[in-house]
Amino acid sequence: MDKLRIEGGRPLRGEVAVSGAKNAALPILCAGLLCAGPLALGNVPQLHDVATTLKLLRRLGATVERDGERVLLDAAGVGSVEAPYELVRTMRASILVLGPLLARFGEARVSLPGGCAIGQRPVDQHIKGLQAMGAQISIEHGYVVAKASRLAGARIVTDMVTVTGTENLMMAATLADGETVIENAAREPEVVDLAAALVAMGARIEGAGTDRIAVRGVGRLHGAEHRVMADRIEAGTFLCAVAAAGGEITLTGAQPATMDATLDKLREAGATIEAAGDHIRLSMKRRPRAVNVRTAPYPAFATDMQAQLMALDCIAEGTGVVTETIFENRFMHVLELQRLGADIVIEGSTAVVRGMPKLSGAAVMATDLRASAGLVIAGLVAEGQTVIDRIYHLDRGYERMEAKLGQLGARVERVTGSP
Ligand code: EPU
Repeated sequence: MDKLRIEGGRPLRGEVAVSGAKNAALPILCAGLLCAGPLALGNVPQLHDVATTLKLLRRLGATVERDGERVLLDAAGVGSVEAPYELVRTMRASILVLGPLLARFGEARVSLPGGCAIGQRPVDQHIKGLQAMGAQISIEHGYVVAKASRLAGARIVTDMVTVTGTENLMMAATLADGETVIENAAREPEVVDLAAALVAMGARIEGAGTDRIAVRGVGRLHGAEHRVMADRIEAGTFLCAVAAAGGEITLTGAQPATMDATLDKLREAGATIEAAGDHIRLSMKRRPRAVNVRTAPYPAFATDMQAQLMALDCIAEGTGVVTETIFENRFMHVLELQRLGADIVIEGSTAVVRGMPKLSGAAVMATDLRASAGLVIAGLVAEGQTVIDRIYHLDRGYERMEAKLGQLGARVERVTGSP
């Protein structure tokens, strides 16, 4: 299992190119199942989760060609409607094939994802919405088995804001008979990017980016081209790293308009930030000030940035209060941060972080994707050596992270194949 060895305590300086967004690329790849024409995608990040999705699409019978950040997907030959447990259990986003398969082929068998480190993460809202559109759904031998000769438009009000739930229902609705309205829809930029890709394929969608999405079903969709949006979480992670360690960074290929909540918090922490076009420049000349954050659906502060901001609070001046409202078990990085000398007290879904003047390097364990990113930031700040084990979590969602950190002058090294 690979580890990451970091020699911390140095400021970071340089330029980093932001990759395409994981959480936009995954649903857009699954949207390729909705039509028999080729879908040509650009800016697809080279990540473990993307590789898993491509494997799943191939398993269903799609042909996939990949050339760097370009992917050409053709689902004309799809002959299976089953997403097997062995793939779904490694990546929950596989549930995103449910809506497209059901809408195009009238049936789907998708394994239930099972447990997840950061919380229970049920898929009841995906199922409820598809049932409202007329699907017959049962759970058989651990699989969601869905059937519908043709889905029918419906008005769906989700119980909570769900990103992949909104995406699954929006995709299914593109081929349904009549109009579907999704109320309480997720407003995440990744939902907007998926909608743009679907519209390019011939779908009729209004309201993506608001909490009411209306989809008028069409008879069929066609091939299209689409460029995946920039990864706002990857971008935010690098900005947070420099805000914590000190120094200066220029991000290229970013979409600052999707990052208001993160940029606001980093400014509050004392960073100077300028955004113009697809560039973001951040400089940090002081010890950060502690900030309070409360995660919530977009446009509020993203749960996917919580661990990174907490790492910054660990060495900030003052005390920061971090409240997680999306996932019930997303504080697993706290015990690891404490190994680096952080002073954190958890009370239910709130962590009180008293900033320390310094952290000291230690061996720590990554527990999930964003927790790993938080540990990398803490490792960059800590004096001495930090070794992060189980960084396969990091590889799921960050493209060449150690190379990009190297461009900033960080001393980060991957130690491969250690037991
Ligand atoms: N929920 C339900 N029932 C459902 C769906 C969701 O109870 O049917 C609950 C979840 O358990 C959670 C809340 O609703 O408490 C919100 O979950 P959501 O469905 O929005 O999460 P998701 O769609 O499974 C996506 C991202 C996550 C990100 C969350 C929240 C993708 C592929 N994943 O997950 O990304 O944390 O939205 O913004 O888009 C990551 O990239 O590290 C990551 C975990």
